[in-house]
Amino acid sequence: MDTGTDETAPTASARPNCPSPRLNQIAPSGPGASTIGRLWASGRLIRRPAALPARRRLPAARLLQRNLGVSFREALWLEDWAFDFSRALAKTWRPGDEVVVTRLDHDANVRPWVYAAEAAGATLRWAEFDPATGELSPQAVAAVLSDRTRLVALTGASNLIGTRPDVRAVSDLVHAAGGLLYVDGVHLTAHVPIDIGALGADFFGCSPYKFLGPHCGVVGARPDLLEQVHPDKLLPATEVVPERFEFGTLPYELLAGTTAAIDFLAGLAPSPSGDRRQDLAGAMTAIEEHEDRLRDRIEQHVRALPGVTVWSRAARRTPTLLLTFDGRDAADAYRHLATLGVNAPAGSFYALEASRWLGLGDDGGLRIGLAPYNNDDDADRLLDGLDQFTRASQGVGRPGSSWAGVMTRTQPRSL
Ligand SMILES: Cc1ncc(COP(=O)(O)O)c(C=O)c1O
Repeated sequence: MDTGTDETAPTASARPNCPSPRLNQIAPSGPGASTIGRLWASGRLIRRPAALPARRRLPAARLLQRNLGVSFREALWLEDWAFDFSRALAKTWRPGDEVVVTRLDHDANVRPWVYAAEAAGATLRWAEFDPATGELSPQAVAAVLSDRTRLVALTGASNLIGTRPDVRAVSDLVHAAGGLLYVDGVHLTAHVPIDIGALGADFFGCSPYKFLGPHCGVVGARPDLLEQVHPDKLLPATEVVPERFEFGTLPYELLAGTTAAIDFLAGLAPSPSGDRRQDLAGAMTAIEEHEDRLRDRIEQHVRALPGVTVWSRAARRTPTLLLTFDGRDAADAYRHLATLGVNAPAGSFYALEASRWLGLGDDGGLRIGLAPYNNDDDADRLLDGLDQFTRASQGVGRPGSSWAGVMTRTQPRSL
């Protein structure tokens, strides 16, 4: 699932060791489909958000907000969560103000702030991670904070190497310096339970397509903070928070899809309580354990393979492994795995700064990312493929040219 650009839809095949039997039912006739049907029905009651009192907003929006640990008025639906928001926040920045971005982040949480800082004449500062350990320490962020810091943009987890910085510790430092913390939660939200308040994020962006939903942007933020931010908007559009951040008619079909995804995930709770937030937290905890176990298994195997470098090394990580191969292009490994029905693409996955910081240039490496529906059979197929590839790289039983193409026998499943 975690491929960034070319995700592969799960199939309905049995997934014997997935965290919940309900994952075996990801099928058009399964519970996800019936949930969508219910939501479409409720969606017909919806009118333009500007005209709606709070209690009448789309159930999807309320659901997602609750499930991020924020309340109804604390979340925005944006077409592009970073560009839209950076322009709005930067309106009060002045020359001499400082904005911090990190080398670890996806470019979506770097470039919008770079441009916004440039436009405001603010100074840009870089917090750097340690390429040897993959860690971005709170101290590395503290080193670039000052009393002029207006904003720090930090990823909740690296989509390239999986590192999960200590967001809470960074938040405390940023707030002590008088700044605000904008957290890119796109990668993190797919893998762990989220509580924005506990993380200490002032703003938290995520994309439901990373957690089995459709592609749209969501930002969670405190209403009192949002009251201070004035995005460009059309004159007749409402001034009310949060609607003044949401341009025009909301993408209701995407909100309905998001609700379906959250419903589905909450339904995976090992001990359902009937409380959606609690169920979602339980389900995400089970998913995290499931994915971590698989990651650990895969990681132990690949670390022992000759000529393979594993770049994912931080103590706290998502189930995301970046590999390179001595003397071989990671894209060749991707193509070989694709012939076995495994989708583990190669690249920098838009985490360009991180890839360059690691010394991997713009090419990055092979990324293995796990989703809730992956199981030990998938891991076996992946590891067999990597064994073959590395044996061939060592000159043992080098396969013929047939595995250099991207044609696949089966639809690749993302790993
Ligand atoms: C960590 C991270 N941030 C931001 C993004 C951008 O998200 P979107 O594609 O929804 O704009 C991605 C996408 O892969 C990501 O992995």
